[in-house]
Amino acid sequence: MANAIWTRPGPKRALITGASGGIGEAFARILAEEGWNLFLVARRENELNRVAGVCHAEHGVEVHVLRADLADPEEIVRLAAHLDRLDYSPDVLINNAGFGLAGRATDLSREDQLRMIDLNVRAMTDLTLRLLPHMRAQRAGGVINVSSVAGFMPGPGMAVYYATKAFVLSFTEALATELKNEGVTISALCPGPVKTGFFATAGMKKTLLTRLLPMKTPRSVARDGWQGFKEGRVVIVPGLMNKLSVHATRFMPRAMQRHVNALFTGLRQQRPARADTTGGTDGATGGGTEHDATRDAPAAEDTQAAQKSPATE
Ligand SMILES: NC(=O)c1ccc[n+]([C@@H]2O[C@H](COP(=O)([O-])OP(=O)(O)OC[C@H]3O[C@@H](n4cnc5c(N)ncnc54)[C@H](OP(=O)(O)O)[C@@H]3O)[C@@H](O)[C@H]2O)c1
Repeated sequence: MANAIWTRPGPKRALITGASGGIGEAFARILAEEGWNLFLVARRENELNRVAGVCHAEHGVEVHVLRADLADPEEIVRLAAHLDRLDYSPDVLINNAGFGLAGRATDLSREDQLRMIDLNVRAMTDLTLRLLPHMRAQRAGGVINVSSVAGFMPGPGMAVYYATKAFVLSFTEALATELKNEGVTISALCPGPVKTGFFATAGMKKTLLTRLLPMKTPRSVARDGWQGFKEGRVVIVPGLMNKLSVHATRFMPRAMQRHVNALFTGLRQQRPARADTTGGTDGATGGGTEHDATRDAPAAEDTQAAQKSPATE
């Protein structure tokens, strides 16, 4: 069914999470080029304002920014209340905010891994379910959920991350079928490696496979995602190599997939930490990897009421 959003006259609105850099910023720029008004969310307000400034200055679109830690369910309630106050109903939601952590699940901080689930899974689901009713009511628009090639397979060495992306993919595919005749588009974007801050945040070491695999640019991934969404595709895998990897999972035994992915994540390079009878290494980084899951996260008391981009005031 064709999506009415593409023929509807007048301004269109998109809410993009994780728009302070990487793939989210690339989405923001592409949509701004096409005249979409934007609502950008992430934790680093200065970076959000930078992206908002560029989009407004170069394309004249209206841009709102809101600093929020979406791993905190209360912050999602605050975001929803703010959208209500502004009477702001996005036509398109791009659930892009997410992070990964490299290391053995038993060695990494339990709290950090639960926060990953809160962001990659809970926030994505919560925002989708909160914002979809408006799209269904207008029978137009839809949701892009950023999953990953990782969503198609188990990932020893990044076990929780791969599992979160499997959730995103499964949820999105099922939702797309449930809403098939309701005039909305629901897509899962599944990139392979992309040149962003993701690897530094995850504390991923360079492995033979990460060196060999071609890295895409965030812009090319966002462009493929946006184009696939326009075409109404449910699962979008950018690039031939990534399509081949996904295709290979159809005939490669799961045991072999586990082995290959352990090479990719560098599991062998991650020395196991001693067993911890308390069930995790909260706050400590184990397994010889380094990561900073809270990169530039603002202090909790520092989250302020939303502001319009200075460029729009
Ligand atoms: N890069 C890859 O190779 C790759 C491959 C497949 C899938 N992906 C997926 O693509 C998505 C975007 O990642 P990226 O590659 O663009 O990495 P990135 O450059 O690290 O961007 C991640 C974005 O998420 C935001 N974010 C992180 N934690 C947040 C939180 N608690 N609350 C709100 N926003 C938060 C970050 O902003 P702040 O730090 O300002 O909050 C940033 O804007 C992720 O879902 C990732 O899993 C990436």
